[in-house]
Amino acid sequence: MATKEFPLIPETVEPVKTKYRTICTKIPVPESVAALKKLRELEPRSMGGQPPVLWHHGKGFTISDAYGNTWLDFSSGVLVTACGHGRKEIVKAIADMAKQGMYHSYCFATDARLKLVEELTTLLPPPLKRIFLLTTGAEATECCIKLARTWGMKVGGPGKKIFVSFENGFHGRTLGAQLAGGSAGLKGWIGQPDPAFVQVPFPDGFRQPDQSFAVFEKTLAAKGVKGADVCGVMGETYQGCNACLIPAAYAQALRKWCDANKALLIFDEVQAGFGRTGKPFGFMHTGIVPDLAACGKGISGGMPLSAVLGTDELMNMYGPGEMTSTHSANPICSAAALANLQVIKRDKLIENTAALAPLMAKGAEKIAKAAGGHIGRWDATGLVGCVQWTQKGTTTPQPELAWQMVWRAIKRGIMLFAPVGVGGCAIKLCPPLMVTKPALKEGLAVMEEIAAEIAAEANQLLAVAAG
Ligand SMILES: Cc1ncc(COP(=O)(O)O)c(C=O)c1O
Repeated sequence: MATKEFPLIPETVEPVKTKYRTICTKIPVPESVAALKKLRELEPRSMGGQPPVLWHHGKGFTISDAYGNTWLDFSSGVLVTACGHGRKEIVKAIADMAKQGMYHSYCFATDARLKLVEELTTLLPPPLKRIFLLTTGAEATECCIKLARTWGMKVGGPGKKIFVSFENGFHGRTLGAQLAGGSAGLKGWIGQPDPAFVQVPFPDGFRQPDQSFAVFEKTLAAKGVKGADVCGVMGETYQGCNACLIPAAYAQALRKWCDANKALLIFDEVQAGFGRTGKPFGFMHTGIVPDLAACGKGISGGMPLSAVLGTDELMNMYGPGEMTSTHSANPICSAAALANLQVIKRDKLIENTAALAPLMAKGAEKIAKAAGGHIGRWDATGLVGCVQWTQKGTTTPQPELAWQMVWRAIKRGIMLFAPVGVGGCAIKLCPPLMVTKPALKEGLAVMEEIAAEIAAEANQLLAVAAG
């Protein structure tokens, strides 16, 4: 959630030159301002809000513009480029498929589609067995909602249609995905609450300090929801607005509850899947398997492709031609995704993520410490870290300080996307999974320096205000 636009007035900044970062111009680059302005004129404001850098090319864990600047990428786009930017294997897969003359296939069979679903199947723990390829994460989560509602009504009659999800959860920006989303501000446009979509607190230990499963049951009871009427429960394995993995004990209790109430358990793995957490899927940290999972982002390394993973029974509820999408399994995207998965496997990127996880956690902790109480919460799971700027001793967001952190990082050669999360207070640290230890260390150290500077300035302002 970007809170405001970054300025388009070139600023003289301290030059940076390290092995991974080069900043050698004003920021934003004066020559790029016209293009950045034109985009602001021609597109909806919603496409804005990101740092004013005209991305030109990427190489591994770096992003460069056309003016000599290079950033150490702590964004992975938005948690997409698992095996890095400009990866030659993915470039080749895309080029080969295009040269073959196959860039669209609708639902006609292709070898690219077969190879991809075969590869994906090798990752699935039973009873997950079938794979439905789609284009966006929201399309995958919407499909899960549809399958849960269909299944609920099939096994429990018309009343079994309540879909439970989590407060502050994010599942995409289409209607169903936003009904299931947990931010009231994002769904005001719908105009009326839908009683068949109910949210419960996510056990993050911060905004919801009580992480016990009892909160789930108490909340449903307080909202007058009977378990028998629930068709499905969907949650992220870690929330996009932070990096806090669902506690294993909670997930296990939820699995039992879903089984007892004949409700489907669905994990949204759009952000967490394909290694980001140090395991192929986030749910693999919990010791349970969902009935459905929605995947996207890191599945393809950058091309628009998503997937629903599901059991035989659920995936076969609809007949031929009844669940389709025009760009499902696009051959170029499928070939790119296959190359991406092969690189992740061959280069042991999930193992690399798990090995670097303690460094990410230590770095996030040090950043929070350097902010001296202005960062109320840090989390890290695999190669995703998150710090939340909050008023001291509270959960109240300090979006201005979060925004400052992004802006200063950009000027020092660290690529971050705009703040996300509750009130726009969260900074996500998410390099490609092929990042090296020295690069990660360097980036985290810069972030720590920035946190200390912002906190010192904020303290000065507080002291002035206090007289
Ligand atoms: C957890 C989660 N689910 C779903 C989505 C929606 O994915 P997409 O933007 O590809 O529709 C996102 C995107 O940020 C996400 O983080």
